[in-house]
Amino acid sequence: MTIIYNDQTREFHLQTNNASYIMTILENEQLGHLYYGKKVRHKDSFQHLLVTGHRSNITYLKEGDMNFSLEQTKQEYPSYGTTDFREPAFQILQENGSRITDFKYKNHRIFKGKPKLEGLPATYTEQDDEVETIEITLYDELIQAEIILLYSVFKEHDAITRSVQFVNHGEENLNLLRAMSANVDFFDSNYEMVQLSGAWVKERHVKTRKLETGIQQISSTRGTSSSQHNPFLALKRPETTESQGEVYGFSFVYSGNFLAQVEVDYLDVSRVSMGLHPFDFNWLLEKGESFQTPEVVMVYSNEGLNGMSQTYHKLYQSRLARGTWRDQVRPVLTNNWEGTYFDFNEEKILNMAKQSKELGVELFVLDDGWFGKRDDDTTSLGDWFVDYNKLPNGITGLAEKITALDMDFGLWFEPEMVCKVSELYEAHPDWIIHVPNRNRSHGRNQYVLDFSRKEVVDAIFDMMAKLLHDAPISYVKWDMNRYITEIGSAALPAERQREVAHRYILGVYDLYERLTSVFPDVLFESCASGGCRFDPGMLYYAPQAWTSDDTDAMERLKIQYGTSFVYPVSSMGAHVSAVPNHQVGRVTSLETRANVAYFGAFGYELDVTKMSETEKAEMIDQITFFKQHRELFQFGTFYRINSPFSEDGNRTTWMVVSKDQSKAIVADYQVLAKPNPGFSRLLLKGLDEASSYEIEGYPGIYHGDELMEIGIQLDHERFKAHANFDIVEDFNSKIFVLNKQ
Ligand code: DGJ
Repeated sequence: MTIIYNDQTREFHLQTNNASYIMTILENEQLGHLYYGKKVRHKDSFQHLLVTGHRSNITYLKEGDMNFSLEQTKQEYPSYGTTDFREPAFQILQENGSRITDFKYKNHRIFKGKPKLEGLPATYTEQDDEVETIEITLYDELIQAEIILLYSVFKEHDAITRSVQFVNHGEENLNLLRAMSANVDFFDSNYEMVQLSGAWVKERHVKTRKLETGIQQISSTRGTSSSQHNPFLALKRPETTESQGEVYGFSFVYSGNFLAQVEVDYLDVSRVSMGLHPFDFNWLLEKGESFQTPEVVMVYSNEGLNGMSQTYHKLYQSRLARGTWRDQVRPVLTNNWEGTYFDFNEEKILNMAKQSKELGVELFVLDDGWFGKRDDDTTSLGDWFVDYNKLPNGITGLAEKITALDMDFGLWFEPEMVCKVSELYEAHPDWIIHVPNRNRSHGRNQYVLDFSRKEVVDAIFDMMAKLLHDAPISYVKWDMNRYITEIGSAALPAERQREVAHRYILGVYDLYERLTSVFPDVLFESCASGGCRFDPGMLYYAPQAWTSDDTDAMERLKIQYGTSFVYPVSSMGAHVSAVPNHQVGRVTSLETRANVAYFGAFGYELDVTKMSETEKAEMIDQITFFKQHRELFQFGTFYRINSPFSEDGNRTTWMVVSKDQSKAIVADYQVLAKPNPGFSRLLLKGLDEASSYEIEGYPGIYHGDELMEIGIQLDHERFKAHANFDIVEDFNSKIFVLNKQ
């Protein structure tokens, strides 16, 4: 049993393979929190963990009692205003202006499996006995509203998911002002908060800070999850490293505005909460209506940050991503964007495709610029029909010629956007997100379609579906290139205007759901100016995402390293691009560029026809090498070893190990060459300590324990025999392939 309820003590004990999560019904009938952490054996009572008692200068709930105060009680889903002064998990505005509520335990239900969250992405089960769920219903008698807390326990995957449903059974209208998906009150504050923050072309950089009294938060108010902060935070002990120590991960399966925060109070209790951003949010809940929050996935690991990440990787790869491509290695692609930008025609594209085919590329992706009159970024978004000036045979004609080369064909869209210079905007100027009589700000000359309106989503679906029906398209790159301003919808009444940001995301999910159901074999790659919406919500629909518009190999080390905190290698689009690099002007070797891009959904983003014969020969070798090992790259167990976020950041090392530990690939990257360097060893991870391995290209046999404890002696003479070994250059990298003997 993974969920135990004790009738006497009214305690709930949720157990995964390695974690315990314990709650209890409090004396005021609200739900209290007792413990989250390393798995403990079950026993009848953990009530001693509840600390009540008198303190000066606090407020108490019951008249005549000087012991019970919510201020000193750890809670599951706290409210504000009744002796707890911290930020609450929820807040409901009632018709009389009150925000005070009293949600008491009503009942609970434990069952096998996991219910779907209507209209929202979420983790799922394939067999009911993989997961046990508990649904705890809390009820406020005065307003006749229910809060249903849903916890699903993925025992083997070692994760617990949470979401919340609000139901209005009463007569009055309720306004949800705040509806977080998860709240955990931790016993102490001796933690560091890890977050993945950045900006366009420097997404998901790892930032770590010590928790301090007060609130520390990350969020998005940009309409998408954003590159500024990923919807993820972790609390780790100060001594926790990549390979050991305790860490708690919180990952939000959502692609819009979010809040993730830790409030440390004067008792050093750390309250983690995560959910929809309450800022600029209000959801009107009329009689009989309900509201479902998105899901938070909680992971506890006492095997360091790698342990946490590996849990997320496995869960998200197999129980969040869906569809035909979920378990399949991804095709090697060429994307024309950095090769041509808007400047192409059919002949150019066909030449690039033919050349790519000769190198071993399997999929050709035509990026932005094929539709309407799009010769630059000022026009045509929304007009999803081909520009015959560039492509006289249409998309169907081009796609047929490319598939005749025995290659797959993929196409770029930006479904959520419209330019003022477009037929779509001319026909429907009120279809954009806007506020009447106010300026409409633009981003890249484009406006955001009001996806909170079904007719808008329908129209875009029809245009995209027609193309996907008519032409042999097996891959779609779904881009989204601006954040949302002046958030408002012409179709909603005044009192629902603060629902637009969330309704917009529901519309995006609806379009994704429809397209992926009608075209189940199409591989979708999500994108938002590169990695500005790389989140678990997107992964549910698109098993891979364009990780960043920064294709420089050195910059990618940080971006891919940070992304790997939550997201699997199979989900990270990673391309080799031309040098000097278009984002930072850096020149790195073709070898290093590929050595970084192998750890992702691999491809090239350059004009193949301009490559020299020597370069093409090298690309053939790279593609052959990648195809030989891509199952391992994309679906092996990923370990981070040396961090580009370490103090000097000069070295990054990571590796993948096959599930049966018979194969591994290690990659070691150095940013700048150092004169007269000290000795250097590479300590590997995840190998079978009792087995022996050969390292391709190196003499000798090495024991697994030896490679993990003593490591590869990088500066040893014999390694100099290896073709990859060359420490005299900047931006150097080495790949080691290990095979069990
Ligand atoms: C932003 C994407 O990240 C790029 O890869 C490319 O598709 C451009 N948009 C096209 O406009």
